[in-house]
Amino acid sequence: MDIDRTHGLRAGIERALREAVRSGQLSPGSRLPSSRVLAQQLGVARNTVSQVYEQLAAEGYLTARPRSGMSVAPRPGQGPPPDLPLASPFRAPVTGFDLRPGLPDLSLFPRRAWLAATRHVLRTMPHAALAYGDPHGSAELREALAGYLGRARGVITTPGNVLICAGYTHALRMLCQAVDRGRSTIAFEDPTVPDYPALAGRSGLHVRRIPVDGAGLMIGHLGDEVAAVVTPAHQFPTGVTLSPQRRRELVGWARRAGAVVVEDDYDGEFRYDRQPIGALQGLDPDTVVYIGTVSKTIAPALRIAWLVAPTRLIPALREVLRFQETYVNVIDQLILAQLIRSGELDRHLRRCRTRYRQRRDRLGRAVAEQLPPARLSGVAAGLHAVLHLPGTIADEPELLDTLTAHGVAVDRLSGFHHRPADAALGVVVGYTTPPQHAFEGAVSALVTAVRAYLRPEARGSGSRG
Ligand SMILES: Cc1ncc(COP(=O)(O)O)c(C=O)c1O
Repeated sequence: MDIDRTHGLRAGIERALREAVRSGQLSPGSRLPSSRVLAQQLGVARNTVSQVYEQLAAEGYLTARPRSGMSVAPRPGQGPPPDLPLASPFRAPVTGFDLRPGLPDLSLFPRRAWLAATRHVLRTMPHAALAYGDPHGSAELREALAGYLGRARGVITTPGNVLICAGYTHALRMLCQAVDRGRSTIAFEDPTVPDYPALAGRSGLHVRRIPVDGAGLMIGHLGDEVAAVVTPAHQFPTGVTLSPQRRRELVGWARRAGAVVVEDDYDGEFRYDRQPIGALQGLDPDTVVYIGTVSKTIAPALRIAWLVAPTRLIPALREVLRFQETYVNVIDQLILAQLIRSGELDRHLRRCRTRYRQRRDRLGRAVAEQLPPARLSGVAAGLHAVLHLPGTIADEPELLDTLTAHGVAVDRLSGFHHRPADAALGVVVGYTTPPQHAFEGAVSALVTAVRAYLRPEARGSGSRG
């Protein structure tokens, strides 16, 4: 036996014996030497071995049989399962330049302000705040958010209509459960993040995909759905802003159909050509459910989002919350409330807007000057843009291969379409994803890769320019 004495001799013998049984080195039924013999072999006190045998018998690894001593107990299963890899496949890291959409520049995380707010909270919160929190969210955060959302996004609400969730996805799942009246239908934009309609489908709703054109969701395609999920400020992924007329038509449809509009305001704080467009919710707080998140403004790791619901939906949502254990760490909620109250969130957002506008402009210049046949859209707001390329969807594999060969990771536009074959050729570029030091390199690599795609005559198959 290989005995590790770091934690004492007895613990070492115990561990070695347990491992030998677990690994199958000692098979079920094998008899063990008597405690006297093993103690002699190991040069330890007999009592030490007896204690080890007793412990492993109590844990079920050994059994004591009258007159035949200790033996290895029969094994209930097939032994320990093989180790699973620790890394999960969600957003696997890439080597090279990561321009996939979905992340803010994480190097801008307001570490100092977060630390100061943490100190403030830990110094001032009462002991009682450390008990189980309110599943609807902490009163401090809901109050701070009601004020912030009114001021920054034009949301009309009271703290009682705000519920705190662990991310947009959590809010959407709660909502699907709250609106479901039997087998109902819910509408999603097409294109959209495919996980969201999939999640609604798993919650038992039928899903209808409604096309998006240059003015946003095509309202005429809506029918008898219980809800329509939209990204009005900056449609994901096309970047289109829902036109004023469509905004009115959408809430008009919801009123007539007795439905709700679900406003996913994931990046509404970021608008570069004018003041942010106010939330759709402000137009009709009785029919619009507003969902916001810190995933784009601060960091997705925080898992904090909020749902602002019309009063008539609150009882159903509270009922859903009652049977869910997912709620957000209370201390983090208090820290975010302090960040909002102290004005640090506004300061942080101003810093981010400045940097993201510079990046957007840099990307825009690179495309206009160096990739003339390509076109960038959706640049007025948000953290990503769509790069449209000459060619058809049949050229997509070649385009993606060329990008990969140049170490550039982006998302293909077609991946967000219900029927990828119907999509125009393009890629979604998350220009806020790289940290600042990597941004210039990422733009250069993107330009070089797209130029290689545009000039296939270098490889003998004509030009796309
Ligand atoms: C369209 C859209 N909505 C919402 C979110 C935010 O999701 P969460 O709050 O779960 O991080 C994202 C994140 O990428 C998104 O792309």
